[in-house]
Amino acid sequence: MSDAPVAVLVSGSGTNLQSLLDAAAVPGYPARIAVVVSNVPGVRALERATLAGVSTRVLPHQGYPDRAAYDRALVEAIAPFGCRIACLAGFMRLVGPTFLRAFPVGVLNVHPALLPSFPGLNAHRQALEHGVKVTGCTVHLVDEGTDTGPIVAQAAVPVLDGDTEESLQRRIQEQEHRLFPLALGLLAAGRLRLEGRRVHVEGSGPELAGLALVNPGRL
Ligand code: GAR
Repeated sequence: MSDAPVAVLVSGSGTNLQSLLDAAAVPGYPARIAVVVSNVPGVRALERATLAGVSTRVLPHQGYPDRAAYDRALVEAIAPFGCRIACLAGFMRLVGPTFLRAFPVGVLNVHPALLPSFPGLNAHRQALEHGVKVTGCTVHLVDEGTDTGPIVAQAAVPVLDGDTEESLQRRIQEQEHRLFPLALGLLAAGRLRLEGRRVHVEGSGPELAGLALVNPGRL
């Protein structure tokens, strides 16, 4: 089986993109990052892509009449790369049906909370303000809602007494960087099967234990 070409959409520093690039550089990984698209010019994620020899496109979202028009522009920019999978790696825009239809194998998103808790923006702040003792991150298939799609993988991260948004984000990102490449590898290898909202993984392997990880790191 040849590596599945994947489009990664970003808006910022691109640490999750880096985790995907690093995974894709390992022989045998079933996906390759074919193009990185940012809606924000000059972000670090674009540098990371260039350093890895991956094509980049910058497509600012301003000036489009509606989301569907921007979605169409994204799809056109990615079309030459033949991707049937897209990853939203800190892409701070919602995508709609026009975008989703263009990636029939699936669109993955990483979110810094244990969905369905704390969807949308400022998930770390929401978790701190709510006072939860455990939060974490989720990799899910994207549907038309905001962070509502079927869940592929989650990791729990404890909230410590002295946590700030930044310290919590750091510990959650360590888990994002582990989960996202794992989830993409399974999707690209055709090992995810959807039954209603539940995502089942075909086959076995020691790495699958990491799809639902409780209390990684310090308590
Ligand atoms: C990640 O932590 C991701 O969970 C979050 O943006 C960050 C991007 O960091 N995404 C969302 O909040 C989406 N709702 P990165 O650019 O270093 O990967």
